[in-house]
Amino acid sequence: MTSAKLAVVVLAAGQGTRIESARPKVLHEVAGKSMLNHVLDATATLAPERIVVVLGPGMEVVAEAVRARGDDLHTVVQERRLGTGDAVASARPALAGYLGPKDAGDILVVFGDTPLLTAETLQAMAAARRAPGAPALLCVAFRPEDPAHYGRVVCGPDGAVEKIVEYADASAAEREVELCNGGMLLGDGPVLMSLVAQLGTDNAKGEYYLTDVFALARAAGHRAGVAEADPDEVMGVNSRVELAVAEALMQLRLRARVMAGGATLVDPTTVWLSADTAIGRDVTIQPNVYFGPGVVIGDGVEIRAFSHLEGATVAAGARVGPFARLRPGAVLGAGVRVGNFVEVKNATLGAGTKADHLTYLGDAEVGAETSIGAGTITCNYDGLAKHRTEIGAGVFIGSNTALVAPVTVGAGAIVGAGSTITRDVAAGAVSVARGAQKDREGGAARLREAQRKRKARAEDGKNKS
Ligand code: UD1
Ligand code: CA
Repeated sequence: MTSAKLAVVVLAAGQGTRIESARPKVLHEVAGKSMLNHVLDATATLAPERIVVVLGPGMEVVAEAVRARGDDLHTVVQERRLGTGDAVASARPALAGYLGPKDAGDILVVFGDTPLLTAETLQAMAAARRAPGAPALLCVAFRPEDPAHYGRVVCGPDGAVEKIVEYADASAAEREVELCNGGMLLGDGPVLMSLVAQLGTDNAKGEYYLTDVFALARAAGHRAGVAEADPDEVMGVNSRVELAVAEALMQLRLRARVMAGGATLVDPTTVWLSADTAIGRDVTIQPNVYFGPGVVIGDGVEIRAFSHLEGATVAAGARVGPFARLRPGAVLGAGVRVGNFVEVKNATLGAGTKADHLTYLGDAEVGAETSIGAGTITCNYDGLAKHRTEIGAGVFIGSNTALVAPVTVGAGAIVGAGSTITRDVAAGAVSVARGAQKDREGGAARLREAQRKRKARAEDGKNKS
């Protein structure tokens, strides 16, 4: 039995040259969230006391991203990329309290480039470590269709791990082993770190292999076991192609999750979700809808085709799209209707309010049961600063109205179509602000005659020249 105390070491020292990017690999995103944050979020479900992220030299942007999580996270720099064993050893200064024989605590080692690793697999490993007579070390293993160049997990007849052999070092017989090493491991902290201190580089790559701790453990009389995982979960992303594969697998998972939660995706493969997209029950999502980060959708909402949402909250029973754009800070109340070619940014729409066509509502507060006519624009930007528009409840804004912010339209007011509103409109007022219409009776015939004469004169002039 072990205590619950746990430290996590995330290996992320690789720049990831094959991803051909100015940005370190682990900051590339899957479902709108960095691969590193996927891994950190999965491990957070184990409530570790300490998290140490191992970075390479000059990876300050990653250190910053780690700090931005706000938790009590540590980063260490592995000065030279001497192998996964050396990477774990370099975490030692940040692991005080997990190293000595008196410090009972576990260490979990994960890779920063495996965005599909699930909390469930980590929980299963933690449970295996808590069981009576638990092995001192557990590796994550999987059975891929093509074992390729993965390390092979060699088990004895009792199922205990005898050793893990890297592909480059494996004999022909060992390469026949189907059980592959996923790379992550969980073990007793002092045991693991004492074995890591014994690692050498006498192998095909001349690296400190973390995997060698398994043979060392056996030699020292410690038992090691296996936690099997789905092959997808250990998939490491090394290139843009692999990033796209991980994205596709993640999208399958996310779609399954929202459907299990009671949403109908009419054509699931065309709906793109973010890792944090929250969707209620009895929601219908038509084809080709994009959910960027930070979207919350209430029950009974309908999102029509070709809509683009990010950072938006949509209350129950609302209808969005087709071709709507909800940008960060868009908050739609219950039963709101936002129709085609309507963009909402940093604006709250009260319950039952409708903006059905061709409208921009930015930096605005709109009350309940208000009707926003086609072509209404909040002119929120004067070239220097953004200004707010406030529209009360029960207001009628006529089509093609420009509201020049800062401006307020009081509750129950009516604004005539085509108005350019530059001053506040009082509650209950009717406001019309457009050029007055002039009519001349019979004027059309006179105008046409004048046009005909002008044309004839012009042609006459051309013939003479
Ligand atoms: C590793 C395993 C292999 C397993 C495979 C699964 C070892 C020796 N081998 O091989 O058995 O089948 O993962 O994908 O562990 N890293 C550092 N510093 C280093 C080296 C690596 O931080 O000096 C980080 C990398 O950034 C990466 C992770 O450790 O996130 C794994 O390293 P990588 O070189 O990809 O290991 P593999 O050779 O794939
Ligand atoms: Ca790898």
